[in-house]
Amino acid sequence: MESGRGALLVLLVALCAASALGRTPSWDGKIEMPTEEDAEKGTRWAILIAGSSGYWNYRHQADVCHAYQILKRGGLKEENIVVFMYDDIAYSTENPHPGKIINKPDGPDVYQGVPKDYTGADVTVSNFYAALLGDKDAIKGGSGKVVNSGPNDHIFIYYTDHGGAGVLGMPTSPNLYADDFVDTLKKKAAAGTFKELVIYLEACESGSIFEGLLPEGLNIYVTTASNAEESSWGTYCPGMYPPPPPEYDTCLGDLYSVAWMEDTEIENLKKETLEDQYVIVKSRTSNHNTYRTGSHVMQYGDVKLDVEELARYLGYDPANENVTKPELPEFLSAHTEILTHVDQREADLIHLRYKFRNAVKGSLREANAATELAKTIVHRKHLDDSVQLIGEILFAGENALEKLTAVRPAGSVVVDDWACLKTMVRTFEASCGPLTQYGMKHMRAFANICNARIDPAKMAVASSEACKLSTSAGSGIWSPVTSGFSA
Ligand SMILES: *[C@@H]1O[C@H](CO)[C@@H](O)[C@H](O)[C@H]1NC(C)=O
Repeated sequence: MESGRGALLVLLVALCAASALGRTPSWDGKIEMPTEEDAEKGTRWAILIAGSSGYWNYRHQADVCHAYQILKRGGLKEENIVVFMYDDIAYSTENPHPGKIINKPDGPDVYQGVPKDYTGADVTVSNFYAALLGDKDAIKGGSGKVVNSGPNDHIFIYYTDHGGAGVLGMPTSPNLYADDFVDTLKKKAAAGTFKELVIYLEACESGSIFEGLLPEGLNIYVTTASNAEESSWGTYCPGMYPPPPPEYDTCLGDLYSVAWMEDTEIENLKKETLEDQYVIVKSRTSNHNTYRTGSHVMQYGDVKLDVEELARYLGYDPANENVTKPELPEFLSAHTEILTHVDQREADLIHLRYKFRNAVKGSLREANAATELAKTIVHRKHLDDSVQLIGEILFAGENALEKLTAVRPAGSVVVDDWACLKTMVRTFEASCGPLTQYGMKHMRAFANICNARIDPAKMAVASSEACKLSTSAGSGIWSPVTSGFSA
């Protein structure tokens, strides 16, 4: 362990040295790099989105609240930060500290002061696009706050939730599809209402939102928690290291998200560049580049922008003015060997398992937790089996599983025909019930069905065939009694 730590320190020093050299832009840039003075002329804007609801997803809203506090401390004004969160965590009956949300084990309350711009049913994809485009007329509900930006302004978008190939979750229907998101970004760029825009995105398979889709030259720089084909990870989960306080039976944060935020809090953002932070976040998110747990943090869009200092987007906290060198938080380097995290798709089950385990034996709470856990597991199996059965019908049993899960080469778009993808999901749901958060893991199967140019009418027949024994179709409530079809 000692030698491992030594190697890590050497590696970190090497990385920091490399990025310090990289700070003088040596590339032959086509983009005219704005000076820090130019940046000061403009306004900093941000949109923060938690895409989930439900106490088992505590971590996403905790991430977003935390991000708000960071931007506020950095000097962004409340009127320039648009917050989307369902807002069912702080006062959930499950919350051991009502009215408070924490994002790390010994962390402070991050909920206080967070504006309720778009909550509950107003957390929609269309409100997000309207807010980004500054289109007040298109907003339905909420505070009406939009990014009313001008040509000198910098915009930061941070999203955290579950995702799948080409899709990001929202707490309302429909989910966010990558093609619509990228089209909205292109519209915003064409309107000339920002100088530069940075997106930090946490979700499973989040690379698939931009891969092969986001062009260069829009002055947009992106990092994602994972590549196009892997999970992203929850952290500060019960039973892991470091764990949340014992009264919490849910994960407090997401790995990539807390990595960028906890780094931001200890750095001098007038010195740290986007690239410096990318390197630090990538290291923490991959368990120090071992990938024992964790994922591949990726960059997309105008990667050349990464020589810029973070203060342009996240503001500047004068308390860190004397910090000279970007570094990993110390406790992380000290505990390299024992840090543990969980695949986002398993994090929800952890909550139910711990709820069951921590309940008073023989109590109603224990019985309810057991039922919830059983239903969740059965529903997951229903989704997995249905998709596989559909694949076997459509591909006539020939390597069906391989065809459903095939991943295109890196850099390729997930699906050629996005309208087809949306149709296939709707067709599946009509026979098999809502895809749900967990079911987003099967987006690639639907994409591959489209890429194989299978007729949507055939898909409708296959879905109805595969799910005809399920009375859960359309109701959104799975009845375990009817699960007998899956062999
Ligand atoms: C930074 O260092 C200077 C010079 O030593 C000192 O005056 C100042 O208070 C320090 N700032 C902070 C925030 O610690």
